[in-house]
Amino acid sequence: MSDLLPVFPWDKLEPYKATALAHPGGLCDFSVGTPVDPVPEVIQKALAAATDTPGYPTVWGPVELREAIAGWLHRRCGAEIGPQAVLPTVGSKELVAWLPTQLGLGPGDQVAYPRLAYPTYEVGARLCGAEPVEYDSVDELDGSRVRLLWVNSPSNPTGRVLGADELRRAVAWAREHGALLVSDECYLELGWSAEPVSVLHPDVCGAGHEGLLAVHSLSKRSNLAGYRASFVAGDPVVVRELLEVRKHGGMIVPAPVQAATIAALSDDAHVAEQRERYAARRSALRAALEAYGFRVEHSEASLYLWVTQDRPCWETVAELAGLGILVAPGDFYGPAGGRFVRVAFTATDERVAAAVERLNAAR
Ligand SMILES: Cc1ncc(COP(=O)(O)O)c(C=O)c1O
Repeated sequence: MSDLLPVFPWDKLEPYKATALAHPGGLCDFSVGTPVDPVPEVIQKALAAATDTPGYPTVWGPVELREAIAGWLHRRCGAEIGPQAVLPTVGSKELVAWLPTQLGLGPGDQVAYPRLAYPTYEVGARLCGAEPVEYDSVDELDGSRVRLLWVNSPSNPTGRVLGADELRRAVAWAREHGALLVSDECYLELGWSAEPVSVLHPDVCGAGHEGLLAVHSLSKRSNLAGYRASFVAGDPVVVRELLEVRKHGGMIVPAPVQAATIAALSDDAHVAEQRERYAARRSALRAALEAYGFRVEHSEASLYLWVTQDRPCWETVAELAGLGILVAPGDFYGPAGGRFVRVAFTATDERVAAAVERLNAAR
């Protein structure tokens, strides 16, 4: 099976990490977008209060969890959705990787995703034997073969936000061709110079959610990457189908994490606080990178700066590793990213300040 899959890209970065680690001031790691700030106390307490849970939790979770998810979708995304149309998942990566399989896709089907994209969309297509297809515009796609159409706004890696118009076009295309549109919205609460909109907002999808799913994660908004807390929501028929398959597959969110998810989705204060930390890191890094000679593209949302020196990305990776700064090469996200690097501002204030100082001293 593993020979069907691409090489795990992060292994290729290891030699550059070794160089960066050798810097006398230590490593400034902006490669993987992994949270470094504490899990908010309100969430830790909810998890701790739910440790005595000897029985099996359910895949669908208690109604309080589904109501918390639906309530958040209503409050933050403007979605008119009931608790019957949501489903907790064990981190969204597993869903992205296994959704085509769980929907019964296979050889002869196509799974389409943006030309520059999170690599797991391709992995999901390959795991079920479907054909992975990249697109710039949905109009290029073969409507008779695409069964699943991914959109990702805000985008990893570019931070680009799709406007309501662009999302409406994708929804119309998918509905016209009977493809399921799945919108990966895990950075939705991390807009900086643009306001991300959910595919489930009535301005985008109209009155109903037929043919649509939105994928959300608490990893980024709530510093919960370690908990594996996420969910999918949308077309109730598709959600029900996924529930049945996932019950058989035992894809269950642990009960303490279910409790923590309820607490996290019921509190917006910690998200506002975390956003402030990221906003400060983002503007400090952005200014230093621009002064150093980088051009920033998109990056209006998400946890990344998508930057270029207009030369091959691995040259930039090597140059920055020499300053003890580790970034992700753009070609991890498709050949179209070959002249960009992705800078994740998910490092501590102290590490960001160290990188800013090094960039300023080296220019
Ligand atoms: C676009 C996108 N989707 C999904 C994920 C997976 O997030 P998680 O599995 O932590 O929910 C990531 C993680 O970086 C991502 O960037």
